[in-house]
Amino acid sequence: MATNEIQDVSNLFRKHFNQTPAYTVRAPGRLELLGNHTDYNDGLVMALAVNRYIAIAVSPRADGKIELVSSAFPNKESFSVDRIEKNPAAPWADYVKGVLLQLRKRGVHFNGFNAAIHGTIPIGAGMSSSAALEVGTALAVRKLFPFKLRPGGGLDEAPQRDSKGELPPIPPAERLEFAKIGQAAENEFVGVKCGILDQISSLFGKAQCVVDIDCRSLTVENPPMPGEAVIVCNSSVKHELVGGEYNELRQNCENAARKLGAKFLRTVEVKDVEANKAKLTQREYECARHVTTEIARVVAGGKALREGDHQQFGQYMFQSHESSRDFLKNSTKELDILVDLASKHPACLGARLTGGGFGGATINLVRHHEALSFMEYMQREYEKATGIKMTPIACEIVDGAA
Ligand code: GLA
Repeated sequence: MATNEIQDVSNLFRKHFNQTPAYTVRAPGRLELLGNHTDYNDGLVMALAVNRYIAIAVSPRADGKIELVSSAFPNKESFSVDRIEKNPAAPWADYVKGVLLQLRKRGVHFNGFNAAIHGTIPIGAGMSSSAALEVGTALAVRKLFPFKLRPGGGLDEAPQRDSKGELPPIPPAERLEFAKIGQAAENEFVGVKCGILDQISSLFGKAQCVVDIDCRSLTVENPPMPGEAVIVCNSSVKHELVGGEYNELRQNCENAARKLGAKFLRTVEVKDVEANKAKLTQREYECARHVTTEIARVVAGGKALREGDHQQFGQYMFQSHESSRDFLKNSTKELDILVDLASKHPACLGARLTGGGFGGATINLVRHHEALSFMEYMQREYEKATGIKMTPIACEIVDGAA
């Protein structure tokens, strides 16, 4: 696994800790392909794990301290295993600390360690660098202090290393527990009430395939992805208070579901939303309308993919963006410009904002042979329209972590 990230993170580790790391892990970022803000509504969503990673290099230490360095932030973060608390000077470490606390809650025992973190996922682009860091942290702790998560809670007997010192692969049911730990870390420690999309995508990705998630049954399928190019355009505009805005959307969805007599919007249909509009506030109506139509779009998108109708699938991507923009209202001027420009390029099948929104990136499905011309066109036209320099990223669809 001598990829660039692994080499770079090993070098970073050696530079800071003056030793060779005992273990390295990496977890990929993800792109949400279709299904915006459907996951925490018990809905359906499709994603892709892509070849951008968070890599972590670790070694145990004997003094009960944990020391973290990151290539993305200037200061080291150091704390004792007995005192895992937030440090406002190093908010990036919260994702690691949140996971450590969740593992402890599950009964996992760990001692001190050194860790270096290096990533190739652009931060704030909506490609889930945070979930990759959470997943990577849990995998790194497993390498250092082997444990086996029992589906539904608790631990089973720890796995044994083979003659080469390797641990057995993590079966799917246990991988789901890793995803839940990452999500709980973010919900309870970081304070973003995210769904489980990002963590599942990072763990259940499959090369050239979609991660197709049913968030009610927590089942995952990996249908093949057509051989089109997947291109990310990062608007480079991040809005403040992302956590606050995200949690507010979730609250509106939950309120709407309750007023419509459901636990989650998954079981509500758009006609019920329309018929009961008077029961809802304007924002609840808008959020419910987006989520119910979006879940239906994921169903229809799945059918189009299976039938090989990429043109139709792309249309659902455009419709998804319009619904996010007009109803969920988590788009931005810059994301709208990116989607509008993409829609005018003949090789673009579909484009939409990807992830939480309020800034970040768009995902574009583009005819393979014209990917380069599309990228040049987007770079040129986005700068013309906004004055912002942006380099589109062509992504490969890869296997998940573990
Ligand atoms: C963020 C969250 C996910 C999901 C998406 C929107 O990425 O972390 O759980 O809600 O936004 O679909």
